[in-house]
Amino acid sequence: MTADARVVLITGASSGIGQAVALRAAEEGDHVVLVAREASSLQTVAQECDDAGAASTLVVPTDVGDDAAVERLFRRAVDVHGRVDAVAHCAGVVAYGRTEEVPSEVFEGVLRTNLIGSVNVARHTIRLLREQEGGALVLIGSVIGHIGVPSMSPYVLSKWGVRALARQLQLENRDIPDLHVAYIAPGGVDTPIYEQAGNYAGFIGRPPPPVASPEKVARVVLRRLEHHRDRTQVNLSNNVIRFGFTAMPWAYDLLVGPLFRLAASDRTRPVGPGPGNVLAPQVEGNRLHGNQGNPVIGIGRNAVALARSIGGRRAS
Ligand SMILES: NC(=O)c1ccc[n+]([C@@H]2O[C@H](COP(=O)([O-])OP(=O)(O)OC[C@H]3O[C@@H](n4cnc5c(N)ncnc54)[C@H](OP(=O)(O)O)[C@@H]3O)[C@@H](O)[C@H]2O)c1
Repeated sequence: MTADARVVLITGASSGIGQAVALRAAEEGDHVVLVAREASSLQTVAQECDDAGAASTLVVPTDVGDDAAVERLFRRAVDVHGRVDAVAHCAGVVAYGRTEEVPSEVFEGVLRTNLIGSVNVARHTIRLLREQEGGALVLIGSVIGHIGVPSMSPYVLSKWGVRALARQLQLENRDIPDLHVAYIAPGGVDTPIYEQAGNYAGFIGRPPPPVASPEKVARVVLRRLEHHRDRTQVNLSNNVIRFGFTAMPWAYDLLVGPLFRLAASDRTRPVGPGPGNVLAPQVEGNRLHGNQGNPVIGIGRNAVALARSIGGRRAS
């Protein structure tokens, strides 16, 4: 083991953004502690991290919604490494549906992983970083933590909460100059989360353009470990959307529904109602990138499908 390499703990490390962060940290020669609920996909990522040059890999299957399990996770990381220098909290789930459509256990499942999970990870990270008098926590929020969108009710609520948590932690930890809490808000990212999602809205979701790669988000996360900044929007377009939501709510409310149907769902892929990976992992769906092809072609297909359904309704 390399004694002076950083120890970086990554939640959600078995897929998408978390996997990309783990691989990037491994390339930089860090010790990586890999966390998600399911062990076998973490083992696969651990092998990739070893191949990429990690100082060491440690797999600790943990449900971030379970505070006692998160406490055990941190104890294990400290037993092995003596410290944790940085935590990138990337674990997250989505459920599509309106407030009254999403069953209560699935609604609570999204809040449990995204919001309570973030609080649990923050609780044990901050305790440790305060003891160490330094280190970094990066929370992954979303542009959706700044706006409202149709048919993503539990996710919207959870991500507003993550943004609030990040601000709260920044305020509470101003007394330790070497302790940094960063909040990163991606827009659309090409990961499997859209297909893994619980869905009660009728159609598979898709990342709206401009779509960033998980590798791009990982670069931003790793940069924040060295060049501290409190808040980062990953895509410039996030700022346009936030401006519309805040400054022109009448126009935003009028446009967001049609634009969401056109650019953020796949009208050619109907899906039956189900909890996706919200209540339990779906191992076969975990991977680095999503599976939804070119977003412009996707929008074109959606436009045709929507026009046909409007035409069909008029004819009947
Ligand atoms: N993709 C996007 O367009 C996008 C945009 C904005 C923000 N984000 C945010 O970025 C983060 C990563 O998303 P992603 O797109 O990379 O998703 P992803 O590819 O579906 O990966 C999610 C990861 O979280 C883990 N996970 C889920 N529930 C967990 C729990 N209760 N405890 C521990 N681990 C859990 C999953 O593994 P297991 O199922 O094995 O636990 C998996 O490793 C999320 O917070 C998401 O909200 C994504």
